[in-house]
Amino acid sequence: MLAIHSRKNSFSDKWIEFCEKYDIQYKLVDCYSSDLIQQLNDCCGLMWHWGHHDHKAVLFARQLSLSLRAIGKDMFPSVDTAWHFDDKVGQKYLLEALASPMIPSYVFYDKSKAINWARNTSYPKVFKLRGGAGSENVRIAKTEKDALNFINRSFGRGYKVKNRRNFLKERIWRFKRDRSLSSFLNISKGIARLFIPKVAEREFPAERNYAYFQDFIPKNDHDIRVIVIGNRAFAIKRMVREGDFRASGSGIIIYDKAAIPEECLKIAFSVSKKMASQCTAFDFVFRDGEPLIVEVSYSFSARAYSDCPGYWNEKLEWIDGQFYPEFFMVEDFIKNLNLM
Ligand SMILES: Nc1ncnc2c1ncn2[C@@H]1O[C@H](COP(=O)(O)OP(=O)(O)O)[C@@H](O)[C@H]1O
Ligand SMILES: [Mg+2]
Repeated sequence: MLAIHSRKNSFSDKWIEFCEKYDIQYKLVDCYSSDLIQQLNDCCGLMWHWGHHDHKAVLFARQLSLSLRAIGKDMFPSVDTAWHFDDKVGQKYLLEALASPMIPSYVFYDKSKAINWARNTSYPKVFKLRGGAGSENVRIAKTEKDALNFINRSFGRGYKVKNRRNFLKERIWRFKRDRSLSSFLNISKGIARLFIPKVAEREFPAERNYAYFQDFIPKNDHDIRVIVIGNRAFAIKRMVREGDFRASGSGIIIYDKAAIPEECLKIAFSVSKKMASQCTAFDFVFRDGEPLIVEVSYSFSARAYSDCPGYWNEKLEWIDGQFYPEFFMVEDFIKNLNLM
C-alpha cells in the first residue's frame, strides 16, 4: 500500500486524485506523529510534499527519508532528491562533484578568508543565503564595499531567511505588475506583516557563519526553468522583474516551447540522472549563450506550470497537451513499487 501525507494546496491534492482515479490503494498518514514508522507498517512507500518554510518538516524530513531507506521503503522525495533541497551551499558541492555546468560559486566559513577573497575578486558578484525562494535571499554586490558589508553581517548577527522587508517589497512589485485591487490589498497585508513577525521568520534560526557568492552572469533578461520528472521534462521562460536581474518569483512567465533551448533540456536530463533524482527543477542563466545552472529544487509551485502546452521525453520528442506534474511523480513512484 502507498502512504500519503495530505497537505492542502501541495502536490498531495493531485497524488490523491490520481490514486482515486486509477484505483490505487493508499492511506493517509500524519508525518508529524511520533508513531509514524508504525503507521507505515503496511506500506511500501510514503509520499510527502514538505516545504522549506515548514520549520517542523525541516527538523526531520531528511532523517525520515534516510530511515525509510534503511528498511527498503521508498519515499518521495527520496534522499537523493531532497538532501540538497533549499540548500544552495549543498548544491554547489553536488553540482561541482558531478561536473555539471553551474555558475562559478564561492563559499567561505572564515571571515578572514572571505574578506581576503572580496578584496581580490572582480565585481559585481551575487550574494545568496543557502535557503529561500522567489529571489528573496539573492542580492547583488556591485562593489567590494557591498561584499564586505554582506560578509560582516554573515559573520556577525547573520540574516533571517524570511524577512518582513522582503515580503513587503515583493507585494509592492506584484502591485506594480498587476495594478489590481487584490494585489493592492496584499500590500496592506505586507505592511501588517512588518509589525507581526511571521512564523517562519520567528522559528528559523539566523543564517550565519558562512558567506556564499556566485559570479554575476550579466545580460540575462530571463531565466529558463526546466523540470525533470523521470523521463519527462517541461519548461518555462521567466522574465526578470523590471529594473532587476532576478527572474525567480517575478511571475512573468512565457509558455512557449520555442523559447526553451534544447541544450537546457539535455543538461537537465543528464544531471538529473546523475543525481538519481525523482524530480528536479533546474534554473538556468546564460553566459555568452552557454547555459549555466543557477540552482536546483525538488519543490515548485505546480500552478505555474498548468499552462505548459506539453512536455518532452528523454529523446527530446515533444508530447503535446496539458498535464499534471504531480501525476508524473505519483505514477513513477507507484510503478517503481509495482503497485500499478
Ligand atoms: N549568479 C547569477 N547571475 C545572474 N543572475 C542570477 C544569478 N543568480 C541568480 N540570478 C537570478 O536571480 C534569480 C533568483 O536566484 P536563485 O538562486 O534561483 O534564487 P531562488 O532560490 O530565490 O529562486 C534567478 O531566477 C536568476 O534570474
Ligand atoms: Mg531559483
